[in-house]
This record gives sequence, C-alpha cells and structure tokens, in this order.
Amino acid sequence: MHPSHFFSSSNVLIVAGKGGVGKTVTAAAVATAASRAGQSVLLVEVAGRSGAASLFGAVPKGYEESTVFEEAEIDGVRHGSITLKSITPDAALMEWLETQRFQRLVGRMATTGLLEVVATATPGIKDLLILGRIKAFEGAGTFDLIVIDAPAAGHAVGFLRSPAGVRDAAKTGLLHRQAVEVLEMISDPARCKVMLVTIPEETPVNEMIETSFAIEEDLGVHLGPTVVNSVLPELDDLDHDLATPAAEPGLDLTDNERAALATAADFRAGRLRLQREQLDRLGAALPLDQIRLPHQFGSSIGPDEIAELATVLTAAIEALPEEGDE
Ligand SMILES: Nc1ncnc2c1ncn2[C@@H]1O[C@H](COP(=O)(O)OP(=O)(O)O)[C@@H](O)[C@H]1O
Ligand SMILES: [Mg+2]
Repeated sequence: MHPSHFFSSSNVLIVAGKGGVGKTVTAAAVATAASRAGQSVLLVEVAGRSGAASLFGAVPKGYEESTVFEEAEIDGVRHGSITLKSITPDAALMEWLETQRFQRLVGRMATTGLLEVVATATPGIKDLLILGRIKAFEGAGTFDLIVIDAPAAGHAVGFLRSPAGVRDAAKTGLLHRQAVEVLEMISDPARCKVMLVTIPEETPVNEMIETSFAIEEDLGVHLGPTVVNSVLPELDDLDHDLATPAAEPGLDLTDNERAALATAADFRAGRLRLQREQLDRLGAALPLDQIRLPHQFGSSIGPDEIAELATVLTAAIEALPEEGDE
C-alpha cells in the first residue's frame, strides 16, 4: 500500500499495547513515517510525559504544544510537520468546559480538585475527556493525522470503553452528547484505528491477542496492522561447531573464547527459535497484517533509531496489500 494512502485512510491512529513493549517508540516512528509521506502530524501523549520529545532530540515542553519537526522539502519530497502535545484529564476538562460556554464558571472556580468531584460522580469521565479533546482536534482538521501514544494495554481497553460507559451513565445532557460523539469517532474506521504493539515474547503476545478481540469485538473499534517491535534479525551459521578447534581451524581463538562464542551462539539460536514461534502463533491467532520493527542494538533510542525504524515501517506499509485487494 502506498504510505500516503495508509496514513490518510484514518484521521486518528491509536498506538496501544502492554507497558514497555515500545508504544512510545512506535508512535514516534509512525509519526515520522507519516510526516515523510507529507502529512502534518499531531503526536499526543496521553499518559503524562512519556518521553516522546527526547526521541526526537527535542527538549520536553511540559504540557504545551511543541513542534519537533517543521514542514520541509527533503530530496524534492515535501515532508509534513510533527507537533507534540500532552493531554491530561484536568486540562481536557477545563478546555471542554470553556468550549461549552462555562468560561465564567471556570474562571471563578479553583480549578484544582474540580475534576476529582466530577470524576467521582461519573466513572470513565477522565478518559472520555481526553478522547473528547482528541475528537476536537480531529474535527478542527488542523492536522492530517493524529497519532495517540495510548495508556498501557489493560488500561487501553478501559480508555476506549469510557464513552459507552458515560453514555449509559449520563442519559441526557452535555456529557451524554460528548460520549455519543466520541463513540461515533472511535467506531468509524475512516476516522480512527488502533495499532496494537507487542514484542515477540509469550506474555505480551497473549495480551495482544486478548486485547485485539476486546477492542474489535466488544468495543467495535477497528484495528489496523499489528506492530511486532524489537524483532531480532535472523542469523545464519549459528549452528557452527565453534567449541572444537578442528571445526574452524582458521579461527585463532583460545578454548575459553571458543566456548564463550558457542554459548552466545546457542543463546541467540534459542532466542530466534522462541521469536519465530511467537510470530507464527500471533499470525495464526490474529488475521491482521503484521509490521515488524527491528531491535535496535544501541544503548538507547534517539532520533537516529527513530529515523531507521520509520524507514522500516514505511517499507512494511509499502508491502501491505491495497485496501480491498485482500
Ligand atoms: N526497537 C527497539 N529496539 C531496542 N529498544 C527498544 C525498541 N523499542 C523500544 N525500545 C526500548 O524499550 C523501552 C520501552 O519502550 P517505550 O517505547 O518507552 O515503551 P512503552 O511506551 O510501550 O512503555 C525503552 O527503553 C525503549 O528505548
Ligand atoms: Mg510509553
């Protein structure tokens, strides 16, 4: 699929998965790939400060919006911008009340503590407020694509369940309407899709399979391709007999070094076997396209690694079938 088709097929992409699997890294790579495809991207951090700014080599600007990549033309191709924004429930509540002509109320009220009062009365409202804020950005059309770095998986289901909960709890009124409008957005695949991220290990793969059924079947939210992050490259020749000098006479190594190499090769071969098993299991359990992102062997992930992951992501999207071809 052409990357610009992929990134314009939905207004909002929610990147979700178990904690630590690489949601923030994936969201940054998705934003980068989309910007290379010409889109102006808003990258939203929901769970407070997730460290996305530092992945772009930028200084985190707190809760203000900051542009980490300006629009530019690179090698004759127009690149879009990437803007980062952190959304908290408190800020979302204030902004929402203001748009609902409660400015005077908001102005006079001590804002701290207000949310707790409202939240106690209506469970799910914090998540709904954040989704409502995202819907407002989507409706304003300022950005071509909104990428959400969602809360960890268990919570992601609750996050997406919040509008239905609030809709049923508040039978009428402003909150009810907000919930209905957010539901319309998240259940329309042309407006919103979820990209689930995992690593090729047993527990995260199990969690992804469960989460994907919960999201698609219980919540009616559409899933995009899954992302398997931190995939180790396949290596040939790991079965070379290094332990006996006769097998590899050209290698000038001590017996200890040969033994250490043989142990490392065994370990890696074992990891690769497990990884293959998990990738196959995931493919068999979920009828979704798989995008694989390679493990980055540096000490940390920064702008260079994000750029590299975005290149791999773009190639993987190009290899996807066009919508309707399947
Ligand atoms: N492809 C990768 N290769 C190597 N390290 C990675 C990769 N993706 C993520 N990481 C590292 O794994 C850790 C968790 O990633 P992060 O994106 O913060 O996860 P999450 O947002 O899901 O909690 C971070 O230290 C990050 O640098
Ligand atoms: Mg994160």
